[in-house]
Amino acid sequence: MSLPTQVRIVEVGPRDGLQNEAQPISVADKVQLVDALTAAGLGYIEVGSFVSPKWVPQMAGSAEVFAQIQRKPGVTYGALAPNLRGFEDALASGVKEVAVFAAASEAFSQRNINCSISESLERFVPIMDAARQHGVSVRGYVSCVLGCPYEGHVAPEQVARVARELYAMGCYEVSLGDTIGTGTAGATRRMFEVVSADVPRAKLAGHFHDTYGQAMANIYASLLEGISVFDSSIAGLGGCPYAKGASGNVATEDVVYLLNGLGIETGIDLDALILAGQQICNVLGRPTGSRVAKARSAQ
Ligand code: HMG
Ligand code: MG
Repeated sequence: MSLPTQVRIVEVGPRDGLQNEAQPISVADKVQLVDALTAAGLGYIEVGSFVSPKWVPQMAGSAEVFAQIQRKPGVTYGALAPNLRGFEDALASGVKEVAVFAAASEAFSQRNINCSISESLERFVPIMDAARQHGVSVRGYVSCVLGCPYEGHVAPEQVARVARELYAMGCYEVSLGDTIGTGTAGATRRMFEVVSADVPRAKLAGHFHDTYGQAMANIYASLLEGISVFDSSIAGLGGCPYAKGASGNVATEDVVYLLNGLGIETGIDLDALILAGQQICNVLGRPTGSRVAKARSAQ
């Protein structure tokens, strides 16, 4: 299979990146991050989550962030919604696209959203109905597609089952998440091969965490499988509150550098992206997780 000529990047830094930060981050700093990402040319930015603040305190200010960001026409500003309440709050914040999230492993589903996989899918049905009524698009996530922190091995057939259900209920795209970053290029190819028997490749996205340093290899493996949408996080921020030891998502800067080298278009300005990463790292008081940004700053 030949490589795609264009790739769409879903920037998850303000959500997946920041949700794991223990120190409070001000609304103003979050807004500045989203605006800098918009300026860098990203077409999709996941801004926050409308989840329980008891579960993920860092996302509690998501409505304020949505109220203050500068929205650029043509850019999608998305948010996570775990239940109808989250969807309604997202709608009240003018969100035009939400993401629902399920897991491929039962144990992770319980720890992350306090219900079984099938209960979570049932919970999404009223969200899908309300979304249709309001003209809101819904993206689906499946977590733990290449391993679970509690159950270990996850069969690709199990991933396919959950992805198929999300797609059938109306998610326009299903993002497959290697939440703990244990996946390898071989396992990634096999997983996409199996899942694409149920959900078309054009409707699948890859979401890689870099815990084992495999994310870039896994993205390349996914490109070879015909996948052309990837989630990534500015400066490699992130982790998951319910997956101990999970390091950041793959850094957006590094993914853009890879794609530039392959002649694959993203519409993103790498220099502006690096700047956005530097700004948020200054706020957090920590070095970037992007190898490209590190190399550039050493020059
Ligand atoms: P629960 O405790 O089972 O549900 O939580 P509940 O309905 O009994 O509600 C408990 C409390 O939360 C109540 O408040 C509700 O009002 C409140 P109380 O009466 O105790 O004061 N509540 C809410 N508050 C605000 N917004 C809401 C909401 N819903 C209920 N929407 C629930 C169930 C799903 C709500 C909870 O488990 C939750 O919020 N989980 C969020 C988990 C999360 O955000 N995880 C991180 C994102 S997933 C991820 O990172 C993976 C991904 O990146 C892909 C990958 O890497 O694999 C996507
Ligand atoms: Mg994630």
